[in-house]
Amino acid sequence: MEQIRHGWPAPDAEAVRISLQLAAQIMQAIDSNDGVIGFDDYMRMALYQPGLGYYSGGATRFGASGDFITAPLVSVLFSRSLARQCAECLRGIEAPVILELGAGSGDMAADILAELATLECLPTRYLILEVSAALRAQQQDVLLRKVPDLIDRVEWLDHLPAEPIKGVVLANEVLDALPVQRFLWRNDSVFELGVGEQDGRFVWRERQAAKPLSAAVEQIIADLGQPLSEGYVSEYNPHLAPWLASLAAVLAQGVMLFIDYGYPRSEYYHPQRSMGTVVCHYRHRAHDDPLILPGLQDITAFVDFTAVALAAEAAGLDLLGYTSQAQFLFGAGLLELAQEEDAEPGSRDGLLLAQQIKTLTLPGEMGERFKAIAFGRGVNAPLRGFSFSNQSLRL
Ligand SMILES: C[S@@+](CC[C@H](N)C(=O)[O-])C[C@H]1O[C@@H](n2cnc3c(N)ncnc32)[C@H](O)[C@@H]1O
Repeated sequence: MEQIRHGWPAPDAEAVRISLQLAAQIMQAIDSNDGVIGFDDYMRMALYQPGLGYYSGGATRFGASGDFITAPLVSVLFSRSLARQCAECLRGIEAPVILELGAGSGDMAADILAELATLECLPTRYLILEVSAALRAQQQDVLLRKVPDLIDRVEWLDHLPAEPIKGVVLANEVLDALPVQRFLWRNDSVFELGVGEQDGRFVWRERQAAKPLSAAVEQIIADLGQPLSEGYVSEYNPHLAPWLASLAAVLAQGVMLFIDYGYPRSEYYHPQRSMGTVVCHYRHRAHDDPLILPGLQDITAFVDFTAVALAAEAAGLDLLGYTSQAQFLFGAGLLELAQEEDAEPGSRDGLLLAQQIKTLTLPGEMGERFKAIAFGRGVNAPLRGFSFSNQSLRL
């Protein structure tokens, strides 16, 4: 495949076949839309087109043999720390429920349930809303293997629950997987960077931004208090507010916790970040070209946490805290959990544990780039995850 860069492992024939089929469907969408679709539509098809998209196909995505690794696969201590935070939120709620969005491999769900069983604080139900049928099957296997006694509490949903729940809503690295629009600031105007096709390849196509996108970018400029530089490219997520509003509507009481990579608005649209925040992952190679390898690579965008906070507050939720992943995990109990592991310092297990903690918390690894943000409804007590640091004022 010509889009494979030098030194990258080549996909197998079946993966290439699926990618070409997906590319043909995206090109059809482009053709029937006067030669250009929004980047959000391209991203949605590339990731979620039934049976063909990156998350909808059957191939391994997470872990060493996949394309990237997420915190629950770095160390079980991540999910166990989250479980400690969940336990604090679940206690005091009658018949509490956990709803996890985009559960990936299923390891986080399994490890959280196991820890909550140890803490004698199990939710009555653990709901998983997963858009990918292939991942849902993988999650079922992982949960069956890791927590066979608890699997009857787990329920997979196609849609948000019809009845509002009381408990905790969790999503790790889901916000970055939501489709975004791309824009370009030129001559004091907003242009949308859509996707077209030329000679069988996807290419960027500029078009005058529609009113909602121009208004959103103008609001961003007003919030920044300074203009964007000529040629500035970035992303905006028009789907975030309705998505969060629908989530907020199903939380009758409790906490919503998101962990993801991103920044407050002033850093997200920083003058130096003038090429946007889209990052793609193919076999542990990170790069910035989402128009190659459709269906074979993950496509993500960093999260504007100010936008998340504004949308959640508009949906009637209270902001409970915002901090780095490292500070959140420390507050939730990561180091106590590590001590309980009783691994001899210098032993193989001890070194492994130290390495995992470094990956989760060091600033150059996941510690600073990833943030935790929590919202609540009817929650009065502070959350332990923000007991070391709460940077809500930076939003
Ligand atoms: C990068 S993966 C993260 C997986 C997992 N949470 C982890 O930490 O390993 C993104 C996940 O979000 C899911 N997803 C994307 N959009 C979603 C949506 N609107 N609702 C629920 N899940 C979604 C994907 O199918 C995938 O499972």
